[in-house]
Amino acid sequence: MLDPTLDDTAFGASIGELLAALRAVAEPTRLRLLVLCSRGELTVSELAQILGQSQPRVSRHLKLLCEAGLLDRFREGSWVFYRVAGDGTASELARHLVAACGDNDPTIALDLQRLSAIKRQRAERAAAYFSENAPRWDSIRSLYIDEREVEAALVEIIAAAQPRDLLDIGTGTGRMLEILAPRVGQALGIDQSREMLAVARVNLEHAGAVNGAVRLGDMYQLPLPDASFDAVVIHQVLHYADRPAAAIAEAARVLRPGGVLVVVDFAPHLLEFLRTEHAHRRLGFADGEVADWCRAAGLEPESPMHLPGDPLTVAIWTSYRGARPHRETRTATPAEQVLP
Ligand SMILES: C[S@@+](CC[C@H](N)C(=O)[O-])C[C@H]1O[C@@H](n2cnc3c(N)ncnc32)[C@H](O)[C@@H]1O
Repeated sequence: MLDPTLDDTAFGASIGELLAALRAVAEPTRLRLLVLCSRGELTVSELAQILGQSQPRVSRHLKLLCEAGLLDRFREGSWVFYRVAGDGTASELARHLVAACGDNDPTIALDLQRLSAIKRQRAERAAAYFSENAPRWDSIRSLYIDEREVEAALVEIIAAAQPRDLLDIGTGTGRMLEILAPRVGQALGIDQSREMLAVARVNLEHAGAVNGAVRLGDMYQLPLPDASFDAVVIHQVLHYADRPAAAIAEAARVLRPGGVLVVVDFAPHLLEFLRTEHAHRRLGFADGEVADWCRAAGLEPESPMHLPGDPLTVAIWTSYRGARPHRETRTATPAEQVLP
């Protein structure tokens, strides 16, 4: 029989952590918060809206869950996001508890229904922005960085990989297809905005990219079979994602063994107006964070490339599915120079 006088100090660090986490989560609101944060990265105000409780109250619960190692908290400018902890003993426990809760309980089901409504609002806000800006997008992005430099680096990476086919996720106006289609047999762009796709179709036609096509689709659920592309590009899309790790995992799913994923986005920055005025969800990404997501998706990340600009730095994260294949070196043809 157990000694009834035993307290936490009688155990090793990991059992001590587990006990602290179990105590923290043994409260209805905190269990609901844990389930919600397992479905995406959420802010206090979103969580307060779902639970129908005040922000200070929700913040207190979140603080306890973070201290117990069940949630991770990360700040981006004036916003703070919460998500289920990525590692540690308590993170394992969090995942088991979330699975055990399921989504049949009426309270949890209602929370998840409200969460879906919030996600729909976010998606509508982003879609409205893209619809309004589709024809102007090319000029907006040129305000931030020297695109030609980024495009040249991207072309070099893709040319070295010699893919037969390429998928451009979040293709927008189809610029990536315009510059990369000449390097591959087939190029496909996916985007969730019909307006963007309409612009992309016009641009591809003007560029004479007959092997390029676009299709409506969601980056979290690509309408494509597993292992169907040699190369996947995600260029300036991830900062709109509320589940960037899931977007990378979905991209990895459609890569063939030996295939290459190239993610291009901003390094961490503090330009809040990109969020308030341009619907960016994330203010850039740290190298380690992207590398972790790639590894979790079964990819092998290479060293990232940084292209400093004023005020934003663009990062290029390249990773391979399995070993990087050996390619014969070949000289680029004139057609393979960066298009104007
Ligand atoms: C900033 S634009 C970049 C377009 C293009 N990659 C480029 O660099 O020219 C971002 C694009 O991502 C698309 N997008 C955002 N969320 C998406 C999602 N969940 N699924 C598919 N496309 C998405 C938007 O519609 C938009 O066209």
